[in-house]
Amino acid sequence: MTNFFRLNERELRKKTVTLPEMKNLIKAVIFDLDGVIVDTAHYHYLAWKKLAAELGIDLSPQDNERLKGVSRMQSLEIILDLGGVSLPEKQKETIASKKNRWFLEYVDQMTPADVFPGVKELITRLKKNGIKIGLASSSKNAARVLELLQINDLFDAVVDGTMIVNSKPDPEIFILAAHKLQLQPNECVVFEDAEAGVEAALAAGMKCVGVGDPGQLRIANHVITKTGQFEINELQRL
Ligand code: BG6
Ligand code: MG
Repeated sequence: MTNFFRLNERELRKKTVTLPEMKNLIKAVIFDLDGVIVDTAHYHYLAWKKLAAELGIDLSPQDNERLKGVSRMQSLEIILDLGGVSLPEKQKETIASKKNRWFLEYVDQMTPADVFPGVKELITRLKKNGIKIGLASSSKNAARVLELLQINDLFDAVVDGTMIVNSKPDPEIFILAAHKLQLQPNECVVFEDAEAGVEAALAAGMKCVGVGDPGQLRIANHVITKTGQFEINELQRL
C-alpha cells in the first residue's frame, strides 16, 4: 500500500487524481494561437525586430520573450522602454500599425499546411475523448489567421484581442473562454508558449501546459517542446 506521507507534492497530486471525485475533472483545453498552433510568434518577432531596428533598438530573442502574449501596444511600450525611447501617442499608433502591416505580410503567405505538426490530430483525439476545445489569443488578427489555416471549425469557443480589455497576464481572456465553453475555470487546461500567458492561465485558476523552453516556462504545471507532443493521458494528471 502507498505511504502518502512519503510522496512529494507532484506525486501526491498524481495519486489523489485517481480518487473518484477528481476523475475527469478536466473538460476543456484552451489553446493560445501564436506559437502554440502556428509559428506566427516568429513573425511577430521578425516584425518587431525590424521596427525596433528603425528606432535604433536591438531586440534580442530573450527580450522578445517579454512581448509574447501581451497586446500590440504593450509590446511596443516594452520595446520603447528597452531602448529608453519616448514618443508621442500618435506616433506610437502609427508605428504599431506599420509593424502590423509587416506582420500581416508574413501571415498572408500562410496556408493550412502551416499548422504545427500533430496539432489537428491532438485536437481530434481530445474531442473524441469528450474534451471541448477553446482558443484564447491576445491577437486582433486571430480571426484572419484561423481563416487562412482553415481551422475555425475545430473550436467550440474563440476569444481574441478584439473581445477583451486586459490582455495576458491578466486572466480575463481565459475566464471569458471558460464562460463561453460553459465551464468552470478549474475544468480547463491552457496550452501557452508565453510567460505572460502561463501567468494568466494560473491566475484564472486553470492548469497550464507550457509549450517551449522549460526554463522560461517553469511556472507551468507541465512543459513540452512542441504542442503535437502532448500525450492526452497527461490531461487528468496535471
Ligand atoms: C499575441 C502575441 O498572441 O498577440 C503577442 O503573443 C502579440 O506577441 C499579441 O503582441 C497581439 O497581436 P496583434 O496581432 O493584435 O498585434
Ligand atoms: Mg503565444
